Amino acid sequence: MNARRIALFNSKGGCGKTTLSWNLAMGLARRAPTLLLDADPQGSTGDWADWSRDRQEFAIDVRDWPLDPAVSSTAYTYVVYDCPPQSDLTRVGPIMEDCDIVLLPVLPSPLDLWASRRSAELLQEVRARRPGLQAYFVLNQVEAQSALSRAARAAMAEMGVPVLGAPIGRRAVYRSAAVEGLSVYQMGKRGAAAVDEMEHLIEEILK
Ligand SMILES: Nc1ncnc2c1ncn2[C@@H]1O[C@H](COP(=O)(O)OP(=O)(O)OP(=O)(O)O)[C@@H](O)[C@H]1O
Ligand SMILES: [Mg+2]
Repeated sequence: MNARRIALFNSKGGCGKTTLSWNLAMGLARRAPTLLLDADPQGSTGDWADWSRDRQEFAIDVRDWPLDPAVSSTAYTYVVYDCPPQSDLTRVGPIMEDCDIVLLPVLPSPLDLWASRRSAELLQEVRARRPGLQAYFVLNQVEAQSALSRAARAAMAEMGVPVLGAPIGRRAVYRSAAVEGLSVYQMGKRGAAAVDEMEHLIEEILK
């Protein structure tokens, strides 16, 4: 069976692509063999993996993209791509075309959403060539009890990309896990709420 391929993409920097790809890959790895591909030349996912190697409860394989031709991805059920914040398709176009699902993390403010307009346009270009591609906004760093403003909803509706029902909260544990080279799945009770929301996200995209 072919692997389910999921890309975390947004040309806007700092919206949570690396954080979510890492935690998503860890959550998927609890279900089946998972490969995390670092497509960002900044290489933070790779650094994270080097830092945490030997300390992971659930092994995931992390490699640089493009994948070394000597390595096969057929052994994996899930492949997750951490994309760079680039505003053209030279690097990320071929990745997204090869994917089943694209997740666009976005901070829930109208300014951040408008800044994601370019990404939504790039995504529509890819979808014209790859009609079956599913794509969703993932609201990230949502503050407890904050309702999405009307302006933010309007900005999203305009871009033609649905928003996942499962939002990701702004939680210190995402940062502290990263500092320790871990995911929220290895943070015990401190990570419980974050694990819960990651699990909702995974169930929603895999259904
Ligand atoms: N849900 C969250 N709660 C708290 N902090 C978060 C959350 N998501 C991301 N962060 C923090 O926000 C910062 C940016 O996140 P991250 O590096 O994952 O974004 P990115 O989209 O990969 O950035 P770049 O475009 O530079 O690759 C990091 O310091 C990260 O720890
Ligand atoms: Mg990143």
